[in-house]
Amino acid sequence: MPSPVNRTLPWAVPGPILGIESSCDETAVAVLNADGHILAEAVLSQERHHAPYGGVVPEIAARAHLAHLPVLTRDVLTRASLEISALGAVAASAGPGLIGGLIVGSQFAKGLVIARGLSYVAVNHLEAHALTARLPGLVEGGAPFPYLLLLVSGGHCQCVAVEGVGRYRRLGATVDDAAGEAFDKVGKLLGLGWPGGPALERLASGGDPRRFAFPRPMLGRQGCDFSFSGLKTAVAQTVARLPAGAMPIQLAADIAAGFQAAVTDVLADRVSHAMAMMRGTASLLVVAGGVAANQAVRGALNRAATAHGFRLVAPPIRLCTDNAVMVAWAGLERLRLGLADGIDFAPRPRWPLEALAP
Ligand code: KG4
Ligand code: ZN
Repeated sequence: MPSPVNRTLPWAVPGPILGIESSCDETAVAVLNADGHILAEAVLSQERHHAPYGGVVPEIAARAHLAHLPVLTRDVLTRASLEISALGAVAASAGPGLIGGLIVGSQFAKGLVIARGLSYVAVNHLEAHALTARLPGLVEGGAPFPYLLLLVSGGHCQCVAVEGVGRYRRLGATVDDAAGEAFDKVGKLLGLGWPGGPALERLASGGDPRRFAFPRPMLGRQGCDFSFSGLKTAVAQTVARLPAGAMPIQLAADIAAGFQAAVTDVLADRVSHAMAMMRGTASLLVVAGGVAANQAVRGALNRAATAHGFRLVAPPIRLCTDNAVMVAWAGLERLRLGLADGIDFAPRPRWPLEALAP
């Protein structure tokens, strides 16, 4: 087990912090000053490396992180007008995620830490998403604890009560596919390539969401768990029943719109249940993850939040999807509590938020 060090409070953050993200297929680096203001950031999506395979290939991802991290770091530091020697700390995603990429990012961070005698933070990637809303200036009036987080990405779909740094209570999660995964699988069925989400949203904008009545799994069910595999199967069966040959564009658009409407209804319903579970303790609903880029999803969540007396906080899309600003910020939040890590911290492919509890 890694050993948190420096637990004396208050703990001054010793200068700017470099954040490193390499848990999946985005290579990202950012530098924030000790107050949390962004000095420079860079994200390099590896989408084109993985698209021919229809999904992320772990080995390719790890090699790409290895190739790009030094270049991005140099670029970010140059744009921030900082020498490495001016840094005070380095934070790197240490899990959950693809272990090859996590090892590359963590070792890169530890190299800088050892060479320059910096503080090191092994950041939980999910905690980084969870704390993004607290970046200075992002939410008017700030985002005090507790608040509700809906994390909807290609790998995660969960409602989390964010009660403090390191203090998370999972209220519900998907029992099968993540929402983004469902978008990607249906995108593939419609011949949209990978990742499916953005292309499917564009296609759906010209479609009739009422032509196909796809199921809304879990709708109205107690709690706030999610399920998307039945919906994906229903779309697959609809596609399989179509006459052979190229699918007419309007038909594809109607299927896309029907699918997106079903996902949107399910997300709004499950989050409504989660808001009811936090009624009286929280009034902020924060959404994170790639699916939060979807305008129909944002609209439905906004309406649900208003109906429950919550305010929806949807960070700018570049901060919803994987990025290093959130990693550096989570590092700062932890450092402020004296929660630095030892360089013996081993990256973890699985690392649930609940495991962060003190
Ligand atoms: O958070 P993210 O960039 O990476 C992780 O999965 O960690 O999320 C990517 C996921 C993909 O499944 C992608 O299809 C989905 O988010 N996505 C979208 C949209 N943009 C990205 N899904 C629906 N509508 C979108 N506009
Ligand atoms: Zn993520």
